[in-house]
Amino acid sequence: MTNILHLKLKDHTYPIYVGKDILHQIGEYLIKEFIPSKVLVVNDASIIERYTPIVKDSLAEQGLDVNSLVIPSGEESKSLNQFSRILDTLIENQFDRNSIVIALGGGVVGDLAGFASAVYMRGIPFIQIPTTLQAQVDASVGGKTAINHTKGKNLIGAFHQPKLVLIDVNTLESLPEMDLRAGLIEVIKMGVIRDEPLFKLVEEHLDDIIALDEKILVEMITQACAGKAEIVSKDEKESRLRMVLNYGHTFGHALEAITEYKKYRHGEAIAIGMNCAARLAVNLDIFTESDFQRQNTLLKHAKLPGTVPKEISSEQLCTAMYHDKKVIDSTMRLILPTRIGEVVIRNDIPESMIKDAIIQCY
Ligand code: GLY
Repeated sequence: MTNILHLKLKDHTYPIYVGKDILHQIGEYLIKEFIPSKVLVVNDASIIERYTPIVKDSLAEQGLDVNSLVIPSGEESKSLNQFSRILDTLIENQFDRNSIVIALGGGVVGDLAGFASAVYMRGIPFIQIPTTLQAQVDASVGGKTAINHTKGKNLIGAFHQPKLVLIDVNTLESLPEMDLRAGLIEVIKMGVIRDEPLFKLVEEHLDDIIALDEKILVEMITQACAGKAEIVSKDEKESRLRMVLNYGHTFGHALEAITEYKKYRHGEAIAIGMNCAARLAVNLDIFTESDFQRQNTLLKHAKLPGTVPKEISSEQLCTAMYHDKKVIDSTMRLILPTRIGEVVIRNDIPESMIKDAIIQCY
């Protein structure tokens, strides 16, 4: 069972394959789109033994010339240093505009390899093969690529869409359970912003998801990617609609920055952020208390945090939120739910109300 979605953009369309045990088909899928002169597989160090040989063999079977490069695991690798290593490899091996880069791993490798391919020779094709749930349902789809600067995350980047995305749910077998739970937040987020049936699917099948039931995973990931593909196809460069994907993110990014990216996984910080945003929406009378509790209960069942830690003051969190890179001309755009399955974008929320919502989330 393999599902194929298409992300339609103004000037090109690319396929997203979602299935079980499909990693070995990458060579076949690639040559349907494009016959590259050379391939560079950029791998996350944690998965090289398990998945790299499958990908390389599949590419070699199609007669492709394959190089590979290993990136140390962890957010620190979204650096200028690792970015330069990729460019050095492309230059040393004489990659040209008809060559392709494959990102094999989680969001770090996807962002890093995606950004290197966005700028090498002013842009060469790339492919995403995400192996974490967070990357499968969010980061690998939609063409956002970036590396970090010491002054902030994702400050150096580009929109560069992949040629194809291949999601093999079997790769989740190597993912630590807490990373699976943290990745699930992006699915729950998609449920709240536009897809109540998807939210319900997670409510009803949480145990199956954590147990890696392949059928449910394929269904859930396909539905989450379809939602993301639709949003990106309507607003590729985030002029407005795509902002809804930032539900919970302004609060969450601020929590991550204050705790120096050490206390929370990204998904955990976003879970707290979603509760803060939902509480604010209740206070504005645009979201019901029972919908707030529905979201909160799902987060609890998924063992995701939903409360702001006591050591962070509302003042501190609010100040950090105004430093988020998504704040433009001092105007904070907040994504607030109106029901499970619908959100609004608001830029008129007084700071005092933001602080009150934070205080209610301790
Ligand atoms: N991760 C949010 C976006 O792709 O827009």
